[in-house]
Amino acid sequence: MNMTPEMVLRAPAKINLGLEVLRRRPDGFHDLNTVFVALDLCDEIVLNERTDGAVAISVVGDPSIPSDFSNLCVRAATALQSAAGTANGVDIVLRKHIPAGAGLGGGSSDAAAVLAGAAELWGLDAGVRQHLPTIAAELGSDVPFFLQGGIMLAGGRGERLCALDLALPFTVLLVNTGRHVPTPWAYRQVGRTSERSATDLVGTLRRGIPDPAVLRAGVVNDFEPAVFEEYPELAGVKRRLYESGAVFALMSGSGSTVFGLFEDESAALSARERFAGMWTTVTQPL
Ligand code: C5P
Repeated sequence: MNMTPEMVLRAPAKINLGLEVLRRRPDGFHDLNTVFVALDLCDEIVLNERTDGAVAISVVGDPSIPSDFSNLCVRAATALQSAAGTANGVDIVLRKHIPAGAGLGGGSSDAAAVLAGAAELWGLDAGVRQHLPTIAAELGSDVPFFLQGGIMLAGGRGERLCALDLALPFTVLLVNTGRHVPTPWAYRQVGRTSERSATDLVGTLRRGIPDPAVLRAGVVNDFEPAVFEEYPELAGVKRRLYESGAVFALMSGSGSTVFGLFEDESAALSARERFAGMWTTVTQPL
């Protein structure tokens, strides 16, 4: 009988409050200047230790997510096994609430939760745990952020992180039309040959939180022009968020989710009624 208690984890979604693509790098990735904000919208993950060394997953709530080695949670657990040289295995149950491939970081967050959770479940020592950010960055550019969560300024590919003491006194409405925007395509459109410098995103947020006109003037997502040109309905979502009373609206990541910031929950809930037929949720920064 397995006496180890199961471990229950919450893996939050994120939005990018500003996303500047600075330059294409020799390794093919792009340097970014962005602020990640973790949200109260979460996937749920249950881990149970296995003594036979196997890593297995069952996914509930989203048939599009694979249950084989291409699942990022499975790759996370397997990468940790190799790094730790452990013979322990894990059974993963992943209950999806965050839409996949939507610019909300769901798959990256799930992988980070499995990394941190399995390290604890297997009782790995500090020597192995210090490598978690490196393992996370190899799994995906957004994964290191989710090891920490909260609100963070990110540079490099997204793995150079700095915690921000910012409070976001807004309710977030997420709208997803179901459109899938391929991330490599989006980077190709934006990465071009030109370079741009990073703006003072943190300064803009500090001034813009009490005065959202500053957010509207200074916080951009560099993917929007190309993605909105290709998928005009997403520009329409952003316009309708503003028409519905959002103080600020922006696409998250490379899309296709567009979020609106509202002054309070009732404003977000009434705006939500304008998006019948689309996936929507009202949530808060964590
Ligand atoms: O790291 P991740 O798996 O999220 O990246 C997916 C794809 O997005 C990469 O293969 C690359 O084309 C692009 N990407 C990038 N620069 C980043 C992050 C992602 O070019 N900083």
